[in-house]
Amino acid sequence: MRDVYIVGVSQTPVSRDSTVHARELATTAVREALAESSVPSSRVGALFAGNMTGGILDSQSQIGGLVADYAGLAGIEAVNVEAACASGAAAARMAYLSVAAGVHDVVIACGLERMTHVGRDAITRALATAADWELESSKGESFLSLNAKLMRAYMEKHAARPEDFAPFSINAHRNALTNPNAVFHKEIGVDDYLQSRIVVDPVRLYDVSPVCNGAAAIVLASADVAAGLLGAGRARVVIAASSAATAPLALVRRPDILHLQAVETATQKVLLQARITHADIDFLELHDAYTIMTALCLESAGFVARGTALELGKERRIALDGDLPLSTMGGLKARGHPVGATGVYQLVEAFLQLSGQAGPNQVKNAEVALVQNIGGTAATVVTHIVRRVG
Ligand code: COA
Repeated sequence: MRDVYIVGVSQTPVSRDSTVHARELATTAVREALAESSVPSSRVGALFAGNMTGGILDSQSQIGGLVADYAGLAGIEAVNVEAACASGAAAARMAYLSVAAGVHDVVIACGLERMTHVGRDAITRALATAADWELESSKGESFLSLNAKLMRAYMEKHAARPEDFAPFSINAHRNALTNPNAVFHKEIGVDDYLQSRIVVDPVRLYDVSPVCNGAAAIVLASADVAAGLLGAGRARVVIAASSAATAPLALVRRPDILHLQAVETATQKVLLQARITHADIDFLELHDAYTIMTALCLESAGFVARGTALELGKERRIALDGDLPLSTMGGLKARGHPVGATGVYQLVEAFLQLSGQAGPNQVKNAEVALVQNIGGTAATVVTHIVRRVG
């Protein structure tokens, strides 16, 4: 396998503006990432687009080819990659694999989603197609109710109180304050968290990521191409490892709903491939779509023992200057979660951190990041190790 460099990134500000168009957002992100990389468009071999709801809400499939055309890349290999909320990272993994395998020297991964142009019921139903339709969604379950089930089970098993989940949300909102691309710029405290409305008991508004729009893109290149682009003093960032794993979509088909087996498998695989351990990770971009997901991911990935994830927030270890910084640019909770685009936003943010371009959100001396993007209640888990080299 060849080394794979990230040589250009771009993101559009995440928004709740219902007038935006997905193809325009994606075109902007792709063109800007390519311009930043200095790679001529004639050298791009393929484009993988991550999108979840275009076919359902916009009657638009073949989004890969659509974006390639509008971005001035008509004719190249281009496909849409769908893995629910993990679509963005799944597209990035396809891009990574095709450069690593030597199929193409330059490949673009972009993620795009627009969600706010339809009513709340329509978007909730569209998102629910990512659950097991026969066993869950057709019986009235949504991701709000499924995460509520997980949170209730966790609270009962570990005697957790609602306020114990607050630090994940407070940390995300604090980090988003200084991220110009975040959808929320609102600091919150424990009282705001506790006073926020209950959406589905025990899930509160501040446990949940918002419905929003956005697009992001990364340009990946082989070492030869990257060497020709990057100045001697410029930080080099590689995708050091990539993994994916799956678990049953339906919670009832899992032996233990509080253990996310696909998170464990994908994390173990990616650490093995990168030849590192948990202790080598400088910061984490996890799938904090719900505070309960953050807790379960930290435990299932092996960063903390079962039943102890909520302690991390109390000790402020997850802050930018902590030993395990989380959601460094606001995470899904406060940067926003335009579902199929999220995995690419996470990689863009990891790149900014590792190349020293994260401004006030900079994690000092960051060299290695673990970036994890999840579809459903962790039915599809795509994980990358991103690393600064040289
Ligand atoms: N966190 C904090 N504030 C939020 C928010 C969130 N997740 N979602 C909405 N708000 C705020 C809005 O900014 C708005 O504030 P304002 O009145 O000051 O402008 C207010 O709440 C109402 O916004 P609205 O969009 O009308 O809320 P809603 O009740 O329709 O939607 C949720 C709120 C939680 C139901 C919706 O965000 C949701 O369904 N989220 C889950 C998405 C999801 O499951 N994604 C997939 C994950 S796997």
